[in-house]
Amino acid sequence: MPLENIKAMLERASNSGYAVGAFNILDYNSTKAVIRAAEDLSAPVIIQTSAKTVIFWGCPAIISWVKELAGTSKVPIALHLDHCKDLQLIADCINAGWSSVMIDASSKPFEENLAASKRVVEMARPKDVTVEAELGAIVGVEDDIHVKEQDAHLADLEQAIKFCAEVRPDCFAPAIGTAHGVYKGVPKIAYDLLEEVAGKTAIPIALHGGTGLADEVFKRCISLGCAKVNISTQLKYAFIDGFVAYHNAHDTEYNPLKVIDAQFNELKMGIVENINLFGSAGKA
Ligand code: 13P
Repeated sequence: MPLENIKAMLERASNSGYAVGAFNILDYNSTKAVIRAAEDLSAPVIIQTSAKTVIFWGCPAIISWVKELAGTSKVPIALHLDHCKDLQLIADCINAGWSSVMIDASSKPFEENLAASKRVVEMARPKDVTVEAELGAIVGVEDDIHVKEQDAHLADLEQAIKFCAEVRPDCFAPAIGTAHGVYKGVPKIAYDLLEEVAGKTAIPIALHGGTGLADEVFKRCISLGCAKVNISTQLKYAFIDGFVAYHNAHDTEYNPLKVIDAQFNELKMGIVENINLFGSAGKA
């Protein structure tokens, strides 16, 4: 199937009380693992690329893997650019064929974030590309965006309402207490804020910092309006651990294709668990 944007995908999820998994891929093998997991479970899925991954491989390579794998697939697949503050890179991805992009101007003062986010909507909408925008500061490291604990702050409700009314993003990422990377303690999620933002903006919410959240946290956030769940760190670990574990167990073998296959299986196993947890299995 051709790539879909995330608008209808997330609206269907919001209306039916499940979330679509957005998995940050690293290369062809991880892209294939995400798509095969979604196919096995008949689930819609979002292939997500960090700005760093796009710069590392270049747009043409990534778009060719995704289009090749999605072209023969029967499940809805979107290709989404994760946290990006560079408008030129966003334009490059839109022109290359990404079906969805995220503008992250959340480190800027409110009015500047608003203006940059509006600008991206103007760039994307005529091409039928969807836009996710962020408000507040999500703690942790995602790509080249580093937010220290003392600088993290939740989205402000009144600002969130104004932001969504003016920008009209297709997906909204308010900081609600989750964190990118590995959790050091139990995260304190602002469920009330999430519920109010989702209710008052009526825009599907993206749950960032998915790796390491407890099953009940995912379920409660999804029931309160999160229609997209981002998973990145988990794939980074599976990518390396799957590779290393196979090599350690067969340290004289030196058969790269077997190692790649082991890595694929490790990645896919975690993605399958996530899709089942988010309730999107069988929703393709
Ligand atoms: P994790 O790395 O914690 O899974 O977060 C992913 C994310 O939110 C990407 O934007």
